[in-house]
Amino acid sequence: MTRILMVCLGNICRSPLAEGILRQKIKEKGLDWEVDSAGTSGYHAGSLPDTRSIGVAKAHGVDILDQRSRPLQHADFLHFDLVYVMDKANLRDVKAMAPNVELAKKVQLIMDLVHPGEHVEVPDPYWNDNGFEGVFQMLEEACSVLVSQAELSKY
Ligand code: 4NP
Repeated sequence: MTRILMVCLGNICRSPLAEGILRQKIKEKGLDWEVDSAGTSGYHAGSLPDTRSIGVAKAHGVDILDQRSRPLQHADFLHFDLVYVMDKANLRDVKAMAPNVELAKKVQLIMDLVHPGEHVEVPDPYWNDNGFEGVFQMLEEACSVLVSQAELSKY
């Protein structure tokens, strides 16, 4: 089983979308994966995703209402195989929390799946009401690549 963790700052805007999109795709493809999300901060621990993320997800047929924000924990670095982050601040913060250098290698920018080595960031939409659709599209693209890589590796 592949275990994937999506991480952003608050775990209310971007990473819940990434989790919801990937969950939907693995269900469609019948993949036996575990998917979760977390935040580098605990500011919103226990909260539902941001209403704007819930809305954009719903508009695309993705339900994220069962999610609640939680902070990243040390145990996550052992449990998950891959940790995808949204921006360079997340990358720095998450790598800094990794128990050792080897486990820090599990942490990658999610858009590197689409544009390898270009270090494209998924912008924080928290202060930008119009940013949510673009964020959804970026994460949709990245999750499509992730799932198609898994299909290729079956053969
Ligand atoms: P997220 O967005 O990291 O995509 O969940 C944010 C959510 C909350 C805050 C910042 C970004 N905040 O400052 O509370």
